[in-house]
This record gives sequence, C-alpha cells and structure tokens, in this order.
Amino acid sequence: RIVFLNGSFLPLEEAKVPFMDRGFLFGDGVYEGIGVLDGRLIDNEAHLERLERSLSEVRIPNPYTRAEWTSLQGEIVRRNGMQEGFIYFQVTRGVAERDFFFPENAKPTVAMFTQAKAIVHAPAAEKGIAVVTVPDLRWERRDIKSISLLAQVLAKQAAKEAGAQEAWLVDEGFVTEGGSSSAFIVTPTGSIVVRPLSHAILPGITRKSLLRLSKEGGIALEERRFTVEEAYEAAEAFLTSASNFVLPVVSIDGRPVADGKPGPITRKLRELYLQMAS
Ligand code: PDD
Repeated sequence: RIVFLNGSFLPLEEAKVPFMDRGFLFGDGVYEGIGVLDGRLIDNEAHLERLERSLSEVRIPNPYTRAEWTSLQGEIVRRNGMQEGFIYFQVTRGVAERDFFFPENAKPTVAMFTQAKAIVHAPAAEKGIAVVTVPDLRWERRDIKSISLLAQVLAKQAAKEAGAQEAWLVDEGFVTEGGSSSAFIVTPTGSIVVRPLSHAILPGITRKSLLRLSKEGGIALEERRFTVEEAYEAAEAFLTSASNFVLPVVSIDGRPVADGKPGPITRKLRELYLQMAS
C-alpha cells in the first residue's frame, strides 16, 4: 500500500512519524475522510472546505491549496489502483519538544492513506445495523473534526460489546449523532428528523447531501433535536457517513425499529444518494 507523508508517496512500512509529533502526544490535529466510488472522490470540495474550517478553528496553517490537495488525492487513488473505499488524511501541528503552547517553528505533519472497502454492496446496507445509545462524553466543539477521538473510541467499543455496530451519543436525553456518523429518524408521519448544525455535532458532508436529496425528492424534513424515546418509537432510522453513505438502523438498544427491517424512505434515500455518487 502506498501512503502519503509530508510531501512523499512511499510504502506504508517506510512511512514513519517522529516520536514528538503533537498528533501522537496531544491529539493536536484535525482530519478528513472521503468516500471513493469508481475511483472518484465523493463531495470532495465540501470535505476540503470543512478541512479548511477545522484547521482555522484550531489555528493550524493549511499546508496546501485546494488544488494541491485535490492533486495529491488523485495521485494516491491512482497509485493504489483504488476503485471503492475511503481516503483518510490528517494534519497535525507538527513536531516539537513536548509543551502545551504552540511551537514557534513547527511544520504541520500531513499524512494520507486509502482503505479499499465495499460501500455499495455492503451487507449492512441490505440488512441494516443495530445501534446502542451511550452518554456523549465529548468536548463542546464537536463541529471541529479533531483527531482526539478517545470518547468515540470508548463509545463505539461499548456498542460493539453490546452486539451493535454503532453508538448513538446522548446529551441531556437528546441524540447528538453517531460515534462516527450522523443520526436520523423518520417519524410515523413520514418526516425525516435530524439535529440542526451547532457546536454539538460534526457538520456531516453526507448529511448535507442527504438533506438536499430529501428536499428534491419531496420528503418532509424537520431539523430539530430528537430524544432517545422518540427514536424508539420511530418508523425508520438511519445514519450517514462518507464511508457508508446511508445505512438503515434496524434496532436501537435492542428494540427493533418498527418491524426491524430497513424502511422505504431509508431505501429511497440510499438509492438517491447512490445515483448522485455514481
Ligand atoms: N466520521 N459525525 C461524526 C462524529 C463523524 O466522525 C462523522 C464521520 C460523521 C459523518 O460525517 P461525513 O458525512 O462528513 O463523513 C458525523 C468519519 C467517516 C470517520 O471518522 O471515519
């Protein structure tokens, strides 16, 4: 596998990051992940825009222009012969003696790799997945795509140990989002409900496309918070992310969502999303 590190493409085994990298010591960095279909990046402009925003919020200089990022991404896809999967890239504040204050002369560390993965014909897309709710223990700037993911790691591991594939994070009784996805329900009257953007959630790029598709498809939409109880009573539930597109959620905390099968609105939205991405 060929990866990208600080200006060079090289075999994964040869890509080494210095011990004192602030990403390693502090989780001091931000990242992006983009879906790839037929060798093309899905919604790349929106992901690069979010990267720019994350970097500026944490005051790490952006090492590349949008055109440079795009050409590096194209190159890593080509070099790995990637057709379908995920591109991951992160920027940390760089290498310096351990000290909390920003280093004076550090250069950001840039790392990028690809993961081949079946997204279109994933079994989870057919059968749906189980989620469990767990307390949202993250910090108050979840809109920044930070590489500090300890709370998500613990939440998703708890979900796995409970036999589920994703955790839905709960703050004051309301679902914020998934451990690594945006959370949606469909009401018994057929409206999609999703939490509005704020510092409490990541502005999902797939979420944004999905909202546009649902408007175009004439599906009613309510941007508001929903509780765990409302999710238990929902007609359908689903999640979105760059690495899964749209996935049906068929059980929440061990209770089947409606009849426990992927619902018609979820299927339709997945279909619309695949059409858009193809
Ligand atoms: N996760 N919410 C959180 C907390 C996320 O980590 C993600 C993405 C999303 C969905 O955003 P998008 O549609 O832009 O992928 C929502 C990525 C895929 C990850 O960490 O692997």
